[in-house]
Amino acid sequence: MEESSQSPRDILSESASGLSVFKDRSKLSPDHVPSRLPFREQKLRELGVSFKGLIESPGSSSMRALIVGKTGTGKTVTARVFGREFRELARSRDVKLEYVHVNCYRQRTLYMITSEIAGTLRLPIPMRGFSSQEVFRAINDYLEKRNMHLIITLDEFDYLINSAPLGEVYFLVRLYDEIAASVKRINYIFIVRDWSTVNVLDKSLRDHVVRNVVEFKPYTASELYAILEDRTKEAFHEGTVPPEALELISEMHGYDKGGMGNARLAIEVLELAGDIADKGGHQMITREIVREANARANPESTVVSESISSLELHELITLYAVVKLSESRRGEYFTMGEVEEEYASVCRSVGEEPRKHTQFYEYVRKMRLMGILDTKQSGRGMRGRTTLVALNVPHSKELKMAIESRMGLASRP
Ligand SMILES: Nc1ncnc2c1ncn2[C@@H]1O[C@H](COP(=O)(O)OP(=O)(O)OP(=O)(O)O)[C@@H](O)[C@H]1O
Ligand SMILES: [Mg+2]
Repeated sequence: MEESSQSPRDILSESASGLSVFKDRSKLSPDHVPSRLPFREQKLRELGVSFKGLIESPGSSSMRALIVGKTGTGKTVTARVFGREFRELARSRDVKLEYVHVNCYRQRTLYMITSEIAGTLRLPIPMRGFSSQEVFRAINDYLEKRNMHLIITLDEFDYLINSAPLGEVYFLVRLYDEIAASVKRINYIFIVRDWSTVNVLDKSLRDHVVRNVVEFKPYTASELYAILEDRTKEAFHEGTVPPEALELISEMHGYDKGGMGNARLAIEVLELAGDIADKGGHQMITREIVREANARANPESTVVSESISSLELHELITLYAVVKLSESRRGEYFTMGEVEEEYASVCRSVGEEPRKHTQFYEYVRKMRLMGILDTKQSGRGMRGRTTLVALNVPHSKELKMAIESRMGLASRP
């Protein structure tokens, strides 16, 4: 970087006077609820349809919706906006509705969840000495007395399924088997990242969770661009974020360009880029700054490239096979057979003799220990039991290119 000719006093007075590319940085915080939700209008509509019974015949049944989508696809923000707006809509139709958003990662037990709900409703009961079940009954009575209805969003429900005792999950989900009530005032939105957690539930639970499924797809580069453009207008001074900076971030993270389609990550890169610009005294976010911000926001990418550098050729080919399979079926597990077949085909294309099965198995095992691959046993339903393999690191263009260059593929005709 060029040496500045400014005096130390000028530099300090400038930084104290807050010369910054940011106009309102809070607009980039993960808790900020933006005024518009582009590309999620249809999801809001689907949620509206799932709960329209609450307005038409409130209390006739306990309504549920399940939101499924990968990280950063807007599940939380959409549920919050839905809750806020639907509550107002219901009130305008004389249905008293409350909305409570619970994060099951922070509130990991039934007791914590019930306290959170009671707190949000300002329930006038002392919590101490009451069991969760008793508190839930009190919540129900409270709603009954005021003729109110409630939508509870259980966000990051995966954590509750994986960590709470099954009995607690049962109690929450099959609430009206536990509490006798002719008017069903409590309704749920469940949010999970993928189907695997829901699929482990037994049928009697699953049937109460898997209703009105709303799926959130990862964002494409052009969708991310529009989301970032909106945020830029709110959070940055005009002219500090040129279109090419937003284009680069969108291309790095767009699902159609080999990224994860994660809006949170894209916004985080934008914020970091702003920081880097401020610290370096730049008035504009350049593509170089975006690249630097991206490397900082993705620390795992450097860790992965370090581990890759220690792999030998056939291990690299094995990893490359999983990466290639993951290209078309992102985030999925593949059978050992599939991976070995792809491995053999990559071997042929680079003029290598495929190693024996036991050796191949050893490569997979080693990379599992290194944390690059994940393996699990297939459940019943597949013919026989087999080992399934998946990439344990984010799939990205950079990863593929890093492996290719290590394999020496790039230098071959
Ligand atoms: N369509 C959109 N328009 C504007 N901002 C969005 C949109 N989708 C997501 N965002 C923003 O991206 C960030 C991540 O969204 P959100 O937290 O809702 O993701 P999520 O699906 O709940 O992810 P996770 O599974 O990791 O909890 C938030 O800052 C959110 O405001
Ligand atoms: Mg979320």
